[in-house]
Formats: sequence, C-alpha cells, structure tokens
Amino acid sequence: MSSYAITGASRGLGREFVRQFCQNPFNIVFALVRSPDSATKLKELSQENTNIHIIKADVTNPQSMIDAAAQISAISGDKLDVLIHNAVAYNQASAHLTPSQIPLDEEATHQMFGDALSTSLYGMIWATNAFLPLIENGTSKKIIHLSTALVDQDVTKKVGMAQQVDYVVGKAALNVLVAKYAVELESKGIKMLAIAPGWVDTYDGPLPKPTELEAMNAEILRRFQKADPNFGAGQLTMEDSVRMQLEVIAGLDMEQSGTFVSHHGDQSWSQ
Ligand SMILES: NC(=O)c1ccc[n+]([C@@H]2O[C@H](COP(=O)([O-])OP(=O)(O)OC[C@H]3O[C@@H](n4cnc5c(N)ncnc54)[C@H](OP(=O)(O)O)[C@@H]3O)[C@@H](O)[C@H]2O)c1
Repeated sequence: MSSYAITGASRGLGREFVRQFCQNPFNIVFALVRSPDSATKLKELSQENTNIHIIKADVTNPQSMIDAAAQISAISGDKLDVLIHNAVAYNQASAHLTPSQIPLDEEATHQMFGDALSTSLYGMIWATNAFLPLIENGTSKKIIHLSTALVDQDVTKKVGMAQQVDYVVGKAALNVLVAKYAVELESKGIKMLAIAPGWVDTYDGPLPKPTELEAMNAEILRRFQKADPNFGAGQLTMEDSVRMQLEVIAGLDMEQSGTFVSHHGDQSWSQ
C-alpha cells in the first residue's frame, strides 16, 4: 500500500493525479483542497473511489497545512509516501505586464506578486515542512513540486515571453528551494524534485472553448514551435501529462533528487 497527498486537487492536474492514483485500490489518496464544498467533480470521484480522502488545506496558510497533516497522520498511521505540491495561484490582472512595466509602487508590486509567492514560495515551504515528519516515516520518501519550463532562461529567451513575471518568479524560487531541501534531506533518505508537466489542456468550462482562449493558445503554440521545431502539435491531455510524470516520479532516486526536469524526466521541454 502506498499513500499520496496532492495539494490543489480540486481541478486540473491536481485532480488528475488523484484520479490516476485512486485506480489502484491499494493506494490511499489524500486530495488537499482549499474549498472542499465547491470541489464538485472531486467529490464525485471520491464517491466512486473510497480510497480518496478529501482534506481541507490552503497552502497559503501554515496552520491550515499543520491541521491537514494532523488529519492525514490520524488516518495513515503517522506516515506518507509521496507529497505532490501542485497548487498554484497568480495575479491574472497583471499577467500581461513585462518587468519594466511593473509600477514603482510598493503596494501594487506586493499585490502583483502576492498570490504567486504565497503558493509557489511560502506555500512550497509550508506544505513541505508540515508534511516532512510524515514523509520521513513513509517508505518512498518523495516530495514533488510542480514547476514550469518557463523557468528555464533559454526557453524564456527563445519563446520571447517577457510577461507572466510573478508566476515564473515564484516557480524559479521553488526550483532553487528544491535543490536546497535535497541537500538538507539527503541524509534522511528523502528525495525532492521540481517537475514541469508540459503544456497541458486543463480547460474545464463549457465547449466550444472561448475564442480568446483558442487565439491565445494558437499564439503560444506558434511561439514554442518557432523556438523548437520538435515542440509538438499542441497541448497534452491531463491524462498523458500525469501518466508521464508518474513514470518520472517512480524512477526518482537520490542521484536525481534536487533537480528540475520535464515530464520526460530530463531537460527536454518539448511536448
Ligand atoms: N497546465 C499547464 O499547462 C501547466 C504548465 C506548466 C506548469 N503547470 C503547473 O502545474 C500545476 C497544476 O497546473 P494546473 O494547470 O492544473 O492549475 P490550475 O488548473 O490553475 O489549478 C490550480 C489548483 O491550485 C489550487 N489552489 C490555488 N490556490 C490554492 C491555495 N491557496 N491552497 C490550495 N490550493 C490552491 C486551485 O484550487 P481552487 O479550485 O480552490 O482554485 C486548483 O486546484 C501548477 O503548479 C502549474 O503551475 C501547469
């Protein structure tokens, strides 16, 4: 029996991790969500699969993470095999700003970076530290943090993406912390990884997709294909992305701990 906890499991890739883990009835799956009441599709999934436990957990609130770890400890017998910190938030209103357009205004700048740093920097630390005692008692001893290929400076330059500053800065901080934690935790046998899931279609709204979203995706695809002719034809499905990530996570060993890889398990950022 293996146990898994996933932050930000209400929708998108987080919920897909839960869906794939729960297929094995011997797994015990902890789906961490900040608003269980509104996680309708996750609740439906948990009604069909009794090995899913929905736990309230806001990664931007340390006490919430402590409480979540305590609840999981009581169910799992004080241990956890794999933690996946997948939750993210960022400031959509300022996503179009390039660095030089960030206002010389302290409050506005803090507000712009608030969500990204709270989830990808502080939330990364709080999720990790709250669950470390359980991971230490687990068998696999793995902690995985979702990142993005846009953290790679070469990718940013080739794709020509000067926007989404808060989101990418938050993930860059997360990547550095993954290396630092890996150094610290090696003697305890705990392995940590930053993984980019590829460019994934997580759209969950009514079809057809909004025209603006289709246009934005077409532009993103054009830029990535221009940067890398082998990039791929479009977005990955959540099912494929998570399946490939799970193969990488299964193979994570001490040598790879502390690194940043794609869903291919290396530094290849194509689809
Ligand atoms: N999709 C892609 O193409 C792509 C590409 C590169 C990297 N990634 C990374 O992969 C991960 C998942 O991406 P996604 O596209 O599935 O994201 P998403 O659809 O935007 O989902 C984000 C999840 O995070 C949760 N969340 C936000 N703030 C939270 C908080 N304070 N506490 C707990 N949960 C919180 C959301 O919950 P609510 O429902 O409550 O809002 C939601 O479940 C992210 O880390 C993202 O950066 C994704």
